[in-house]
Amino acid sequence: MSRPVLIDTDPGCDDAVALLHALERPDLEVVGLSTVHGNAPVAETTENARRILELVGRTDVPVARGADRPLLVDLETAEHIHGEGGIQGDLPEPTAATRPIDVHGARFIVEQARAHTGDLVLAAIGPLTNVALALAMEPALPDLLDELVFMGGAAFTRGNVTPLAEANVHSDPHAAKRVVRDARPTVVGLDVTRRATLPPERIDGLPRDDPLGRSIDAWLTYYGPEDLERNRIDAAALHDALVLAAVADDRVLETDPYPLEVGADDGLARGALVADADGVTGREPNGRVAVAADYERFRALVGGSLERLVERVDVSVPE
Ligand code: RIB
Ligand code: CA
Repeated sequence: MSRPVLIDTDPGCDDAVALLHALERPDLEVVGLSTVHGNAPVAETTENARRILELVGRTDVPVARGADRPLLVDLETAEHIHGEGGIQGDLPEPTAATRPIDVHGARFIVEQARAHTGDLVLAAIGPLTNVALALAMEPALPDLLDELVFMGGAAFTRGNVTPLAEANVHSDPHAAKRVVRDARPTVVGLDVTRRATLPPERIDGLPRDDPLGRSIDAWLTYYGPEDLERNRIDAAALHDALVLAAVADDRVLETDPYPLEVGADDGLARGALVADADGVTGREPNGRVAVAADYERFRALVGGSLERLVERVDVSVPE
């Protein structure tokens, strides 16, 4: 029995690896993608999502374009990390087959949660604007979902945008504040994603000189030398892929319950995701935080998906 999953995404190189993994897993049914601003403006993240689906022949997966901007703060994007247009690689142009459906991403989340009551996993791997809008539309969303898991925060480690804040939460802190307060999320933050790397040499069948081979290689190595050095890692951190690996296999992450809150005020507190580890607030836990990861299991799962994909999909450019 496969798990239905809706992925809210801002592709994004690490998003791309997460999507390929989820699409390749026989135990996951990707019911659709909702796109959001983040690594690039939503026009580009939507086009990137479509191009990824075209690359691997999955034009059956619906794409619902979502929020253009955060709820309150100004739009901030990360092309300096992910590349021009928000992604690297050798991607085909989108075709009519992946034209976005005529439903806003946030509405799509609500519709799919109702269509799969109690079974749908909502995996959010970009800023949480669509998820917050969906919650505003349908306050019962947490009860309709089997699980809400998002890549975000730096509960017990330094941030990657400010000393306290991780990019997805910092990009739309008000959305993250609402989701953490009301939706009982599982939070997969930099505490565990920083070390979620998968060097291309671990993938049988790579390197391969075609669009799929070149794209996967680019996505596994999208970090510049300064990021590798700062994080003392050997390949790019595949933050989002760790989330989807855990959706497919609950042995990948260890999570614990905590009282959680997000800082949304201007200044250094903006985007801080705070976990009350010592119970000093006296509050009940309202979410779970990933505190440890089995990285070899992660590499075996995602590496295995990519190897099967490379073997299955022949995208060599016709002569
Ligand atoms: O901080 C990492 C997160 O920000 C990832 O989801 C990456 O894709 C970017 O969106
Ligand atoms: Ca992302």
